[in-house]
Amino acid sequence: MTAKIKMRSQLHLLTGFMAGFVLAFVLLLYVYDVSRVTPCWSSSSTMSTMATVGMEDEPTPPRILCMVLTCPENLDSLAKTVYDTWGKRCSHLIFASSEDYEPLGVVRVVEPSGGGYEDLWNKTREGFRHVWEHYGGDYDWFLKADDDTYMVMENLQHLLSGFDPDTPVYLGYKMSRYNVSYMSGGASYILSRQALHRFMTKAYESEVICPQPKKMGIEDFYMGICLQNVGVHFVDSAQALDGDKKPKFMPLDLENYLMDANSTIPEWLRLMSFSQVETGLRCCSNYSVAFHYASRERMFLYEFLIYHLKVFSTNQISERIHSSRISLSDLMRRFPLEDNSNIKDLLQMSEKPDNF
Ligand SMILES: *[C@@H]1O[C@H](CO)[C@@H](O)[C@H](O)[C@H]1NC(C)=O
Ligand SMILES: *[C@@H]1O[C@H](CO)[C@@H](O)[C@H](O)[C@H]1NC(C)=O
Ligand SMILES: *[C@@H]1O[C@H](CO)[C@@H](O)[C@H](O)[C@H]1NC(C)=O
Ligand SMILES: *[C@@H]1O[C@H](CO)[C@@H](O)[C@H](O)[C@H]1NC(C)=O
Repeated sequence: MTAKIKMRSQLHLLTGFMAGFVLAFVLLLYVYDVSRVTPCWSSSSTMSTMATVGMEDEPTPPRILCMVLTCPENLDSLAKTVYDTWGKRCSHLIFASSEDYEPLGVVRVVEPSGGGYEDLWNKTREGFRHVWEHYGGDYDWFLKADDDTYMVMENLQHLLSGFDPDTPVYLGYKMSRYNVSYMSGGASYILSRQALHRFMTKAYESEVICPQPKKMGIEDFYMGICLQNVGVHFVDSAQALDGDKKPKFMPLDLENYLMDANSTIPEWLRLMSFSQVETGLRCCSNYSVAFHYASRERMFLYEFLIYHLKVFSTNQISERIHSSRISLSDLMRRFPLEDNSNIKDLLQMSEKPDNF
């Protein structure tokens, strides 16, 4: 009882802080998010992808519903690329936008006027409401990503396999502003079924527990407030795998981390991160899950490097020397010498022919 009253007064205090800091947040937005490539935030769509297969009585891999926030301007570019790459590996993929779009199964969750970056918090809330109403009982985990996030779904499934979806869990890249913890939104975050249940039944409607929509793009910060007020556990992905303390959801473009110099890491990231920010190849877990600021080109690059490119082992190289090295006669047959009889007048060749 006392604890409840204490919590309420803390909540009121928090609401007070919120109001007081609204102006500061606007400034923060400019200070911290200037480098943000504006993904559009608009409607959502649904589509079925991979069917979940599971043998009876066998533990099945976690079923993950992916909710990707997008906007009408990004459908042909980023949303289509998500659909064609990592989105295929979700148990179910939904795009949340401000207009329906059948071909990708995009669903409108807010009014066309409510699709801008400053309405992101409302779009996130309404997106989760849509997902809750239509799929709340059907999936174990609910991912919120942006249309410029690239996900490695298998690594996410592995990470989530260590948690029970019926416990209240909120997982991602943990940050803090104004002593409020939250998971970076651009790096994506995941709610367990139980966490989504608490968000929808306890936080969503309450102005005391959960900030009501304002013209604010900082949906991740607001989500942090709502979830800590309804007893959800914040799991920093850097702490979620034994023996691997590296971050797994990268809030910056991976390229920013890979240069072994501090100039590419903004100071705010060090100030706001819970896990250590390192640069170079040690920056990120070998089992990383999410990369932010992915362009279309970058998504296809990730897709090729992660799912297509294979590297031969030393053994395979030796094996080939021993078993299938080509003989001289085969070399002659398959790769005959070039016909040089047509080469004439090389002495007349200009220094650099036009068509070189
Ligand atoms: C949030 O979106 C819903 C659904 O479009 C709408 O009814 C509501 O007015 C919006 N709220 C704000 C504050 O924009
Ligand atoms: C965060 O909490 C500390 C310790 O209570 C306090 O000193 C500091 O002023 C707080 N910062 C903000 C921005 O609220
Ligand atoms: C980067 O900054 C950190 C602390 O801010 C420092 O420990 C580290 O040596 C710096 N690294 C380089 C390569 O300058
Ligand atoms: C990550 O992979 C690289 C390359 O295989 C390896 O050298 C490194 O030790 C790995 N890091 C960890 C923490 O396992």
